[in-house]
Amino acid sequence: MVNRPPGSRFGLGIGHCTIFKSMPLVEVRNLIKVYAADEGVFGKARHNVRAVSGVSLDIHAGETLGLVGESGCGKSTLGRMVLRLIEPTSGSVVFNGHDVLAAPPGELRRLRRDMQIIFQDPVGSLNPRMRIEEIITEPLVIHAEGSDTTKDSLHQQASEMLRAVGLDESALRRYPHEFSGGQRQRVGIARALALQPKFIVCDEPVSALDVSVGAQIVNLLQKLQREFGLTYLFISHSMPVVRYLSDRIAVMRQGAIVELGTSEDITLRPQHGYTRTLLEATPEPELKLS
Ligand SMILES: Nc1ncnc2c1ncn2[C@@H]1O[C@H](COP(=O)(O)OP(=O)(O)OP(=O)(O)O)[C@@H](O)[C@H]1O
Ligand SMILES: [Mg+2]
Repeated sequence: MVNRPPGSRFGLGIGHCTIFKSMPLVEVRNLIKVYAADEGVFGKARHNVRAVSGVSLDIHAGETLGLVGESGCGKSTLGRMVLRLIEPTSGSVVFNGHDVLAAPPGELRRLRRDMQIIFQDPVGSLNPRMRIEEIITEPLVIHAEGSDTTKDSLHQQASEMLRAVGLDESALRRYPHEFSGGQRQRVGIARALALQPKFIVCDEPVSALDVSVGAQIVNLLQKLQREFGLTYLFISHSMPVVRYLSDRIAVMRQGAIVELGTSEDITLRPQHGYTRTLLEATPEPELKLS
């Protein structure tokens, strides 16, 4: 792996060592996932897929770390393991000082309040039979733990979240199929924000949208990051989108991070041949993102 001094607004690069102002919010160490696929007749795994093979990286509070690589390289598996939505084969994830993989159910539930995910496909990730108000407030009810879950309070919180993502309050009574793809993604973002998390894994949140709608969502994510002090792991196969949003970029290939550095270094001074290939393969988007 080529790992260069970040020098972004979150860190000072001195030679090859980096001094960040605080401990990382997320510390990933030697994370491995082997999927046992193609079970044989004797129940023995004949063909294992090594989706993530020994990834280590830090994500600092307030930054966006972009994770870029071609389809099937292990981006979603890595992102979900960080949230423990997929159990790793081995390795460790420390979030805000807590060992996520060793956390017993109660502690994991508390950690989950602070760690959310936005999915690529807002259709598949929103329950079609629930009204938007229920979709947004469901996490608040699940994680109530003594907080105010009266109907009025939930309604007010859902309205606030909808406003934050640029939707009108009238949306609360409607169902997911009554919205466009971009609006549905805004609902997915409002749901992820409901618990006021610190950290969000954005797993290809604009890949299913056309370029102009995707650009609006990208700009919304940036605005929300400023407003709510969010930290993002932003997954995409698109170098221009990742470059636009990220403070640092991790380039992933076949389950491993081959290069990690500031957006500027990765895009202007790539060290790894695969990064150069990705940059050459991806033309600039037609649309201005800001
Ligand atoms: N549940 C599973 N069982 C077996 N193999 C899996 C499973 N999920 C993913 N894989 C395999 O693991 C590898 C990594 O998949 P993953 O979805 O993490 O890639 P990705 O980089 O997110 O791809 P994409 O850009 O297409 O979303 C692929 O080879 C995939 O086929
Ligand atoms: Mg994926």
